[in-house]
Amino acid sequence: MKNKIIVITGGATGIGLAIVKQLMNDNTVISLDRSDAKITALKAACPKVTSIKADVTSADDVDAAITSIGKTAGKIDVLINNAGLGRNFDFVNASDKKLAEDISTEMDVNYIAPIVLSKKALPLLKKSDAPVIVVVSSGLAYVPMAFLGSYCASKAAVHFATMSIRHQVAALKIRVVEVLPPVVDTDLSKGATIKKMPADTFAKIFLDRFSKGQDVMNIGQTAALEKFSRFLPKTAFKMLNKAGN
Ligand SMILES: NC(=O)c1ccc[n+]([C@@H]2O[C@H](COP(=O)([O-])OP(=O)(O)OC[C@H]3O[C@@H](n4cnc5c(N)ncnc54)[C@H](OP(=O)(O)O)[C@@H]3O)[C@@H](O)[C@H]2O)c1
Repeated sequence: MKNKIIVITGGATGIGLAIVKQLMNDNTVISLDRSDAKITALKAACPKVTSIKADVTSADDVDAAITSIGKTAGKIDVLINNAGLGRNFDFVNASDKKLAEDISTEMDVNYIAPIVLSKKALPLLKKSDAPVIVVVSSGLAYVPMAFLGSYCASKAAVHFATMSIRHQVAALKIRVVEVLPPVVDTDLSKGATIKKMPADTFAKIFLDRFSKGQDVMNIGQTAALEKFSRFLPKTAFKMLNKAGN
């Protein structure tokens, strides 16, 4: 990818940062992050990247970010909806309040925010010759891990919404890419004891498939998960939730 205006959410850490590092030399990269400390670290590590402070669940922040990008860049070629989070889902032991708050947070960040941001970005995407919306969902959109039940539900929700959006914007000639990562070595997966893909490797595979025109990317273990979920869904659930996982 070269000479593109790329907007990414959560570009200061993990998968987002790995993607940013591989794109920043040949493109204009704008990252939307909410934490001052992370923005400072991003600026230090990647001075070419433009940072905009924004919580993707805040309508005001998102409106201000879009206005600012419109003024400075005039368009968006590629919007990468990457920001996300996950909470442990302990249905039996969590308090009613914590359970409700966690579900609501996950749905706000992982499901609602990518749709709302993509919608608000439409006028700027339409100014591109070859606009692309990218959604980073998860292999767990296919099969849930029990202790992450609500995170998986939020990713399944954005998975289905992404299919719908792809269908609806086809007439506008907007490409919609969904990338479904396996377990990648980032802050988000730090509690997981299973094998993790390095974030740089993940970013390389994503960008390679992006340039080859692939629109649904089942990366690493996600490819097997997708097949199992279709043909042997109960086995897939059992495998994913065996003792130790
Ligand atoms: N790592 C994995 O194994 C894995 C697997 C499948 C899918 N994914 C998905 O990959 C994406 C990137 O995650 P990651 O693994 O790179 O984890 P990460 O390092 O924790 O990165 C997530 C980023 O999203 C940001 N973010 C969260 N809520 C936000 C909000 N309301 N507004 C703005 N930024 C927000 C976080 O910033 P704050 O710290 O400020 O919240 C953080 O910088 C996520 O969508 C995740 O669900 C990851």
